[in-house]
Amino acid sequence: MNICYRPAAPSDAAQLLEYLKQIGGETDNLTFGANGIPYTVEQEAEVLKRFAESHHSRLFLALDGDRIVGNACVDGFGNPRFRHRCNLAISVLRDYWGRGIGTGLMERMLDFARQIGVELASLEVRSDNERAKALYRKFGFQSFGTFPRYFKINGRYFDVDCMTLELTEGSNK
Ligand SMILES: CC(C)(COP(=O)(O)OP(=O)(O)OC[C@H]1O[C@@H](n2cnc3c(N)ncnc32)[C@H](O)[C@@H]1OP(=O)(O)O)[C@@H](O)C(=O)NCCC(=O)NCCS
Repeated sequence: MNICYRPAAPSDAAQLLEYLKQIGGETDNLTFGANGIPYTVEQEAEVLKRFAESHHSRLFLALDGDRIVGNACVDGFGNPRFRHRCNLAISVLRDYWGRGIGTGLMERMLDFARQIGVELASLEVRSDNERAKALYRKFGFQSFGTFPRYFKINGRYFDVDCMTLELTEGSNK
């Protein structure tokens, strides 16, 4: 298995939408299910163009040959009062779990965030998602609280852990 990592481009839109449907059907740990996200290929291509051109946000893909098997998103902010922060999100196809791809994607997200001077990375993870929490703790993320009933999936509520990672020393000066 030879996994490559690269930023997503607008031409990835159609395959990425199919990928999101597949991963959405494989896990209930994401913000969407088997329907994926409600964008047309053109809308998704526009979103990917904005990511590719953004100073503060980036979408990374993990590929096995030409096949998308993982994605990860650094969502930063233009607002000067938020610019020191970013939110992270990550997924890998179930058949590929446990092979280091989540780790590879996380390394690329954190490298990007550090390069652009982000000080604090944050994410939300379902409190019962031990695999993802193990990945995040490995990189030094710490939980600072629980958001109760964050998800309602098929009538059941799920809490999330809110986690952050300090990327640089913060300053109040
Ligand atoms: C969470 C997810 C991204 C991890 O991706 P992955 O490619 O399996 O991650 P890795 O193979 O790099 O493993 C990362 C760490 O997870 C932990 N891990 C691996 N297998 C595990 C298992 N069976 N149980 C618990 N933790 C496990 C280990 O700490 C591992 O690090 P190590 O191998 O250095 O010890 C992937 O499982 C996934 O996409 N899940 C569904 C979507 C999701 O939950 N996304 C996160 C939403 S917040």
